[in-house]
Amino acid sequence: MQIQLSSKDVTAAEADVLALFVIEGGLDRQKAVLALNDSLDGALLASASSAEFTGKADQLLELCTLGQLPAKRLVLIGVGPKRGFDEAAVRNYAATAARAANSANARSLALAVPEKIPGVGLRAVSEGLVLGAYRFTKYLTGDRAPHARLDEAVVLKLEGRPTPADRRAIDSGMEIGYAVRIARDAVNEPANVLTPEALARLARRVARKHRLKVKVLDRQGIVEAGMKLHAAVGQGSVNEPRFIHLSYLPDKPKAKLAFVGKGLTFDSGGLCIKPAAGMGEMKSDMAGAAAVIGLMAAVAVVGPGVEVHGIVGAAENMPDAGAYRPGDVFGSLDGKTVEIVNTDAEGRLVLADALTYARRLEPDLIVDAATLTGACVVALGKTCTGYFTGQEQLARRIERAAREAGEAMWRLPLVEEMREQLKSDVADLKHTGERWGGAISAALFLREFVGEIPWVHCDIAGPALSDRAKGAVPKGGTGHGVLTFLRLVENAG
Ligand code: BES
Ligand code: MN
Ligand code: ZN
Repeated sequence: MQIQLSSKDVTAAEADVLALFVIEGGLDRQKAVLALNDSLDGALLASASSAEFTGKADQLLELCTLGQLPAKRLVLIGVGPKRGFDEAAVRNYAATAARAANSANARSLALAVPEKIPGVGLRAVSEGLVLGAYRFTKYLTGDRAPHARLDEAVVLKLEGRPTPADRRAIDSGMEIGYAVRIARDAVNEPANVLTPEALARLARRVARKHRLKVKVLDRQGIVEAGMKLHAAVGQGSVNEPRFIHLSYLPDKPKAKLAFVGKGLTFDSGGLCIKPAAGMGEMKSDMAGAAAVIGLMAAVAVVGPGVEVHGIVGAAENMPDAGAYRPGDVFGSLDGKTVEIVNTDAEGRLVLADALTYARRLEPDLIVDAATLTGACVVALGKTCTGYFTGQEQLARRIERAAREAGEAMWRLPLVEEMREQLKSDVADLKHTGERWGGAISAALFLREFVGEIPWVHCDIAGPALSDRAKGAVPKGGTGHGVLTFLRLVENAG
């Protein structure tokens, strides 16, 4: 998609779809609306009134212009009251405009951004356009294939002439949007295609394109490095595990951050096999890894003065004659021994070794992202991440980054009394606790491997995959996490 910037009048904009944000109650006060209404001989306000369109949040009004305007269709998007219109809202409504254009089979979209509203950053506008236009269609053929592709967008700046800074904001927003799409595509890709090796190939591709450093360990490399838990999880699959390390290394970095992603390209549960219903969704069990790889692409584009490491433990959890079993005991990269209780709690094992690896880089902060527990989805629903950290100040940083990114993240507690559930009779640790509070015992297990390094664990099991499209979020793989983590990196610089 190309995104142009223009200060053309809305009544002169040529496009298949012309979209306009409308502040609640401001219909007859917004200059652009009044100008369009004049060109349409009053039809705009008349149909708004008959459809009871007032600009309430998420209201849509679509009109054919019947040759009276150079734009073929008009889409008015209600954005609610002015005070709620922040960066995240701008991103969401720009995405709504792009999605409306896609539904109308439009090839071109003009989007008018309103005058003088604080928080209307052009970067968020172009992020939203790229995110809203996203569809995963590579396996659709014939009639099911998309009939048209939105490949031209124009952002109409209603106030003042476009500046070079505006152009840069549009360009980086677009690149960031594409970085989120990398994560979405990887999540949507089926597990027969996206194996651990394919995930490593994706990381190498991102590294080459964005000049990042990349290291990949194959099964033997993982074993030789001492990542015994990672190897154990992968030993039941013909698709061998991979360990991936991407790094962004600027001169004189102000801080060093490490992001660690769970990359289970498929989680059948292993010998403790999952029920058939919904098992297919477990192709998305690498969403944490996808967010980390997408983040690294975004970081390279933005170019902050912060050193960033992206670490992924990739494996496929399958039942097999060679698979690991309940009752097995393995060592770990850290040295601690772990008794396996349930082979379906595989993510924390892969993460334990990846966190140990991250810790050895001596970063200022480790953030992990993982589709770790069903319990977290039960607690917070399908749209919200549960994050854990022992540090108040870190919690504030996550809250701010998530708010700016428009991603829902809610803090859950590291309940100390539950630590004893991880005691084993035969090894240093058991990897699961009781059923109740399953997201918390998983987080407590991970904590055993981060040492003294400040750490945040994000359980993204709910929002990794969405049941429906809304705002910047599509149906299917969402790329959740990329934007929050990018903000966290930018705010550290
Ligand atoms: N990948 C799953 C968690 C999951 C569940 C993600 C639903 C997305 C939607 C994870 O590996 C898992 O199976 N966790 C178990 C842990 C249990 C065996 C202690 C769970 O949550 O049931
Ligand atoms: Mn599992
Ligand atoms: Zn899993």
